[in-house]
Amino acid sequence: MCSGKCCIFCTVYTAVLVFLVGLLLFVIVPVIFMFSVGIQKSLVFPTYIIEPKNYSNSEDYGITGVRNMYIDVPNANTENVTLGLWQILPKEIVSDIIKNDEYNFDGVLSNEKYKILLYLHGNGSDRTKSIELYEILREFFHIFAVDYRGYGDSTGSDLTETNMVNDMKYIFKWIQERSKSKIFVWGHSLGTGIATHLIAELKKEHINSTGLVLEAPFTSVIDVMRTHPVVKFYSVLPWTEATILNPIKTNDMNFDSKSYITDIDCPIMILHAEDDEIIPYNIATELYYTAINNRNSTYQGDVTFHLYPPKGNGHMLLYLEPDLSKQVRSFIDQCLDFSKKNL
Ligand SMILES: *[C@@H]1O[C@H](CO)[C@@H](O)[C@H](O)[C@H]1NC(C)=O
Ligand SMILES: *[C@@H]1O[C@H](CO)[C@@H](O)[C@H](O)[C@H]1NC(C)=O
Ligand SMILES: *[C@@H]1O[C@H](CO)[C@@H](O)[C@H](O)[C@H]1NC(C)=O
Ligand SMILES: *[C@@H]1O[C@H](CO)[C@@H](O)[C@H](O)[C@H]1NC(C)=O
Ligand SMILES: *[C@@H]1O[C@H](CO)[C@@H](O)[C@H](O)[C@H]1NC(C)=O
Repeated sequence: MCSGKCCIFCTVYTAVLVFLVGLLLFVIVPVIFMFSVGIQKSLVFPTYIIEPKNYSNSEDYGITGVRNMYIDVPNANTENVTLGLWQILPKEIVSDIIKNDEYNFDGVLSNEKYKILLYLHGNGSDRTKSIELYEILREFFHIFAVDYRGYGDSTGSDLTETNMVNDMKYIFKWIQERSKSKIFVWGHSLGTGIATHLIAELKKEHINSTGLVLEAPFTSVIDVMRTHPVVKFYSVLPWTEATILNPIKTNDMNFDSKSYITDIDCPIMILHAEDDEIIPYNIATELYYTAINNRNSTYQGDVTFHLYPPKGNGHMLLYLEPDLSKQVRSFIDQCLDFSKKNL
């Protein structure tokens, strides 16, 4: 079939081909990834999947009693941004405002009766995507759902953990300056990383949040990446750490909740589904144990962990959990007790 010379040629040809493909896959691809901050950012902050829309009329998305608003966030060290948010009124007063264009939304803000919830969404979301959850939570809270810089109609392009946390710090203080109500923070997915870091930052300025809810949280972005099949495939290479994982840290998008959670001085509630396909539940379990083993619950508040058995709710549909309302109610009571004790 194949003469000696031809056979040698075939072997050499195949060897060269295998070498080139290997070089491309195992060296060139990781090295390109390492130097492409843009590719890394589009992975952690996939803002491109959110279609542009007009946020001004919440009824277009099926929710009433909402004011669409914008807050300018000045930043000395980076760009000034304008963030879009929804102020979602507590259920109790929604009926007052239907067909009332003159409704005084600022007045509600200063009404101490209503506890405030700052809602921080996940990395592929915007403020219209959690309406079912808002409908449950507005039974208890007056909600502010913010779009991070670069998300929704919020301006800004320099997406980094530091910038996003600073923006949210500004929003938290903006609310605090206008309200004497207790402020809770709720994060979902990437939002749990922002929320945890935010509260740790606020602590440096002696500002406490009343309670923190982490829905589908993670320990750090690189811990989540390590569970991804593509990263697992590369993990046999000695340079995966240097080319794929470390750049996420160096480029300020690792959201290391595992270290920030020990600084949180308020009760924490963690919610996770066993069938979460984006963030495996053992990552949330690790965060839980880090918190209970490294915080002093007497002084920093308890940690509650609700791990839901598989029901198909996964990463995105935890609002379908039938016990959620009850769990939120008892968490609020626990937080109020804790804050009374610490006065
Ligand atoms: C959004 O819709 C409102 C009317 O509901 C309109 O007044 C406004 O100009 C629109 N905004 C944009 C950016 O198109
Ligand atoms: C942001 O706005 C302030 C004025 O509010 C201005 O002094 C500052 O230079 C601006 N920062 C940048 C980076 O443009
Ligand atoms: C961000 O979204 C991607 C999907 O685009 C997902 O694979 C990743 O796990 C998410 N990361 C975080 C930290 O939420
Ligand atoms: C915040 O919480 C810590 C720990 O419970 C407490 O020592 C501190 O006094 C609180 N600060 C405020 C402003 O409530
Ligand atoms: C929490 O701190 C107090 C004093 O600061 C201490 O008495 C108590 O033993 C601590 N609890 C734990 C679990 O470390």
